[in-house]
Amino acid sequence: MATDGQLGTMLAHGRDAARERIATQRLAPGARPVPRVVAPYPASVRWLHWLTVALVLAAVALGFLRVEVVSHAWRLWLLDAHRTVGLLIFGVTVLRLLLRLGLPIAPTPLPRLVGWIVRATHAALYLLLLGMPLLGVLMSNARSGSTRLFKALPLPVLMPENEGWADRLQGLHLVGGWILIGLVGLHASAALFHHYVLKDGVLGRMLPQARRMPRTT
Ligand code: HEM
Ligand code: HEM
Repeated sequence: MATDGQLGTMLAHGRDAARERIATQRLAPGARPVPRVVAPYPASVRWLHWLTVALVLAAVALGFLRVEVVSHAWRLWLLDAHRTVGLLIFGVTVLRLLLRLGLPIAPTPLPRLVGWIVRATHAALYLLLLGMPLLGVLMSNARSGSTRLFKALPLPVLMPENEGWADRLQGLHLVGGWILIGLVGLHASAALFHHYVLKDGVLGRMLPQARRMPRTT
């Protein structure tokens, strides 16, 4: 088991080795140095990422707050606000995926296993960003048939009223909510670890004022 000191030395070695690889690029005589860097995520993807973060925080807060409120009118208002934000998350995620598929985005250079875990986490996050709103709509249909948000905007009707299914879907929606919270915690901790401990520029690729990061593999 590595001690704190050994771990620190290993991380510093990794960083130094990466910087050395960049500094010692072998170039043909007269050739211009090719910057071995990875471009940041495109601005549209970055802004949609941080908009999604704000919307997910709002959806989760509204979802849980609603349970704590006693007033029936306020509970209804919070639920409609929750549903509206949830539908926005669905729309923003579809837009983000369409944009992402059409834009050339170099993958973050990471060791093979870590890269695989990161891709799996991102895929699971996208799945939940689309799946949670879908479960929410189905649950609302099953519980109360056709529903109007704030007594105005009709919710799509994808299934008929059914109390048994409403309970099952509610259970799935709750479990999905907790899995999303867990994954986001893991994902954000990893991003902060890269930023503050590895100092390798991974977070910088996604920040609004993005920077290029060195290619380390
Ligand atoms: C990413 C989007 C969403 C997230 C993260 C999310 C998360 C949550 C959470 C954490 C709760 C509280 C858990 C509970 O008390 O059962 C909740 C409740 C609820 N959500 Fe969502 N939700 C999302 C989207 C939606 C959408 C789009 C709808 C419907 C259009 C919806 C409908 C509901 C309903 C009806 C409840 C109350 C369940 C109950 O009766 O207690 N949700 N949601
Ligand atoms: C609700 C919260 C969040 C969600 C749903 C979320 C979702 C995602 C998804 C789906 C990606 C993959 C982007 C792609 O390649 O298409 C991503 C990337 C990223 N996110 Fe988040 N994120 C959240 C919060 C955060 C937070 C709080 C941070 C920073 C502390 C963060 C930092 C990053 C970084 C740095 C990347 C790029 C990672 C890489 O290039 O390997 N995210 N996020």
